[in-house]
Amino acid sequence: MENIKRVTFASKIGVIAAAAGSAVGLGNIWRFPSQAADGGGAIFIFVYIACILFFGIPVMMSEFIIGRSARANTAGAFHKLAPGTPWKWIGRLGVLTGFIIMGFYMVVAGWTLIYFFQSVTGNLHSVTNFSSHFNSILNNPLQQTIWMIVFTLLTAFFIISGVRKGIEQSAKIFMPLLFLLLIILAVRSATLEGAVNGLNFLFKPNLEHVKQTVFLDAMGQAFFSLSIGMGCLITYGSYFNNSVNLTKTAVQVSTLDSLVAILSGIIIFPAAFALTSNPDTIVDELVTGGPGLLFITLPELFNQMPASMAWSSMFFCLLALAALTSTISLMEVVTLYLYEEYKISRKKSTLLVTIGVIILGIISSYSSGFFNFLDMASAKYMLPVGGLFISIFVGWYLNQQLVTAQITNEGRLKFSILFLKFYIFLLRYIAPIAILSIFIYGLAS
Ligand code: PHE
Repeated sequence: MENIKRVTFASKIGVIAAAAGSAVGLGNIWRFPSQAADGGGAIFIFVYIACILFFGIPVMMSEFIIGRSARANTAGAFHKLAPGTPWKWIGRLGVLTGFIIMGFYMVVAGWTLIYFFQSVTGNLHSVTNFSSHFNSILNNPLQQTIWMIVFTLLTAFFIISGVRKGIEQSAKIFMPLLFLLLIILAVRSATLEGAVNGLNFLFKPNLEHVKQTVFLDAMGQAFFSLSIGMGCLITYGSYFNNSVNLTKTAVQVSTLDSLVAILSGIIIFPAAFALTSNPDTIVDELVTGGPGLLFITLPELFNQMPASMAWSSMFFCLLALAALTSTISLMEVVTLYLYEEYKISRKKSTLLVTIGVIILGIISSYSSGFFNFLDMASAKYMLPVGGLFISIFVGWYLNQQLVTAQITNEGRLKFSILFLKFYIFLLRYIAPIAILSIFIYGLAS
């Protein structure tokens, strides 16, 4: 194993594009707004940002450290760095989590394709009630299944075509495009008449709508959105070359990821408040809206714009691509695990994973209960548990000289001692205590 030369990402921008490509996805644009609405808006967002700062970024750095120093898949990395210990189970938990996330994520990714094609053909334009339109899709599991399968096969195609070409090239081009489009839409939405109520909901704390589970929900969202807690970024870190600045990359990726989430909020909420026909109940509608928020509110916003179907086609195409760079990263974790740990060929591993994901995806398409269960189990519980152990592993178990060498690239990067101490402090104390307390508080409430 040691002698096999592993590929690395070709360029610096490729590193960021790939990691950000994994992080930015449906989690930011579809899941964040519905979670924020459910969590009462502004308070949720404050807690979410605190989670990113206090343990999101440190855990992300830790995953990079584990991945780059072990140069192996998620489970193999723990195996290598802590041979003969139960730590490998954290890696295995990560692989399982990745599999479970794909089981519902592919279904939502399929919805983006449905909306994309309905925009291109102009069918979406003739819809008058987007809420019942979305429900008609939810009530058609066969249609969802077909598009879920299309999306899974598309992901598998990129996995088979190899690391550099598949992941790196694709993310470099459309991530910036997506960002630009989000800015345009945010401006459009925030300047609608009545939009200010939506902005208030998003940024002005209102204690009336706070739920007791807000901490647990926001923590789960932070883990999910940053793609941390399951070793996805351990796998990507294993492809980083030795000159990548891990701290800078983690900060850049987290910033980009959070910006995309906040931008999505600035698109969805002002539009939802401005375009509703019953302003009195809009907050309740948002809170109970569930997963449809993006797919109902956004088409309404497009209909307010000239050349609506062009905007809508462009948006759903980019959204599908953003989802694709995330599903590629998820599938890569599970495939690389089978490939490196069980010596199953890359093609066969991909095939096995694809079949497994399609089975879960079919059940999710037919049962919203199962869909919600996979979503909740992975984001709220499995990822934070993974993150908890990853922070303990790097903070307490790993040789601290190795950690310092990874952060400073063997001393070539100049970091102040104070910064290193602060990072270790966050990892050793703040992250585990915060994650644990949120769990205990969340489970007790
Ligand atoms: N972060 C991705 C998103 O926001 C989802 C994801 C979670 C990807 C965990 C990989 C690992 O869409």
